[in-house]
Amino acid sequence: MDAEPTGTLPLRSEQNIVASRQKVRSLCQQLKLSLVDQTKMITAASELSRNTLIHGKGGEMRWQFVERNGRQGLQLSFEDEGPGIPDLALALTDGWTSGSGMGLGLPGSKRLVNDFVVDSAPGRGTRVSITKWK
Ligand SMILES: Nc1ncnc2c1ncn2[C@@H]1O[C@H](COP(=O)(O)OP(=O)(O)OP(=O)(O)O)[C@@H](O)[C@H]1O
Ligand SMILES: [Mg+2]
Repeated sequence: MDAEPTGTLPLRSEQNIVASRQKVRSLCQQLKLSLVDQTKMITAASELSRNTLIHGKGGEMRWQFVERNGRQGLQLSFEDEGPGIPDLALALTDGWTSGSGMGLGLPGSKRLVNDFVVDSAPGRGTRVSITKWK
């Protein structure tokens, strides 16, 4: 178990993705999320970490436990300094991909979590923050 309230992991290799997935699982367990919510958060995190690696050319995942109105949550932030997302509405459309993916990672992740915020601009990089509330 990890007593740290916040931390950062690199997302620069497939091995990093595996490690981040394990970290998210452990954080979800620490928060005592239901098994269904754990699976949702882990699935969303997998998609977003893969986007950071593939589309963002690598970056990092920041995590922190958060509290709002007496409610506990887990917030994950996927950050890169890659090319950015020129058209966010398009990127959030089911089935739209700039590459050879399924185009379901971003819109699917949005549906799996409670809060979903994308901050991105061409040339500046991308940050996607998600929160799951207990
Ligand atoms: N971190 C990022 N940096 C730059 N572009 C991104 C990033 N994340 C997503 N995108 C853009 O948004 C599009 C949609 O992302 P999404 O995850 O939904 O689909 P995908 O990664 O192409 O396919 P899938 O995730 O289904 O395998 C991507 O094709 C890419 O153009
Ligand atoms: Mg994707």
